[in-house]
Amino acid sequence: MSNFLRSDLEDLLEHAEAVPHVNQLLVHAGNTPRELLDFCEAKGIRVQAYSPIAHGAILENPEVNAMAERYGVSVPQLCIRCTLQLGTVSLPKTANPERMRANAQVNFEISAEDMAALEGLEARDYGEHSAFPVFSGKGGSGGRRPVGPRPTFAP
Ligand SMILES: NC(=O)c1ccc[n+]([C@@H]2O[C@H](COP(=O)([O-])OP(=O)(O)OC[C@H]3O[C@@H](n4cnc5c(N)ncnc54)[C@H](OP(=O)(O)O)[C@@H]3O)[C@@H](O)[C@H]2O)c1
Repeated sequence: MSNFLRSDLEDLLEHAEAVPHVNQLLVHAGNTPRELLDFCEAKGIRVQAYSPIAHGAILENPEVNAMAERYGVSVPQLCIRCTLQLGTVSLPKTANPERMRANAQVNFEISAEDMAALEGLEARDYGEHSAFPVFSGKGGSGGRRPVGPRPTFAP
């Protein structure tokens, strides 16, 4: 599944013979769909966190930068680690092999207090990427999908 909200999953679970294994959701520091994450966990559905670096938009966030500096890691490392500690499978994207290697070095622990701060953060300004339905709240996991046909994504 991808971008399935609780109501979508409830519909599915009511009628389907198999429980879906995975639901891909927009999850990153600054956009933590807590209720949906808890629901998926309770139903045994693994969440894959797509855009864990907020499509790159969070790289400039001052609070996140300050926290990353305290841990001696990069913002992408902090953000990826955050999604792992939320219990999701993190799906960062980079076209740069060096960054890919660095992004995999996330063997550190974010404190409970800092996790709460990252979860409480609101960082949903995706800049130039805001035009994509998935980043404008129409296909994401925040429960804000309007009534109407499911959004489609440009290739
Ligand atoms: N199911 C869905 O509806 C859905 C929707 C959107 C995305 N996705 C999937 O989720 C995955 C990731 O999504 P995403 O590309 O939107 O966002 P993302 O992983 O949050 O961010 C990718 C951006 O961060 C940059 N970046 C990555 N590592 C970096 C580093 N160490 N330092 C500096 N910049 C870094 C990348 O640039 P460079 O490439 O230049 O390094 C790229 O611009 C993709 O596989 C995508 O297919 C799924």
